[in-house]
Amino acid sequence: MKSIVRFSVSLEKQLLQEFDRHTRLEKYPTRSKAVVDLIREKLVRKEWEHGTEVAGTITLVYDHHGSKLMETLTCIQHDFHHIILASQHIHLDHNNCLEVVVVRGVPGEVKRLSDLLRATKGVKFANLSMATTGKIL
Ligand code: NI
Repeated sequence: MKSIVRFSVSLEKQLLQEFDRHTRLEKYPTRSKAVVDLIREKLVRKEWEHGTEVAGTITLVYDHHGSKLMETLTCIQHDFHHIILASQHIHLDHNNCLEVVVVRGVPGEVKRLSDLLRATKGVKFANLSMATTGKIL
């Protein structure tokens, strides 16, 4: 089990009031949990800039009737098979599909995969959720 340390922080009263408002709005049980999450968010952001291994999901929405769209998306994903852990395809309605691709790998490669999928003609929405393997946290 990780040991817990306490530390104090000096900041302007107004800033702390704003932070406490944020803490309440976001339903944090304690100020500490809110601070810890901010620190972790910052570390994960740095991991995506300078780290060696990240994890995340790429969410896509597209109309599967698009000419060669499915084939293109599949070809791209095969080129990146080594960083794709899983994918799930959901038929939202007669036309629209939602696909979630779970990835783990070098940040630059994950971003490249996300960019290629997003740029594919017919993709209506693409979002890369930059998560973490959790190892540094
Ligand atoms: Ni579908």
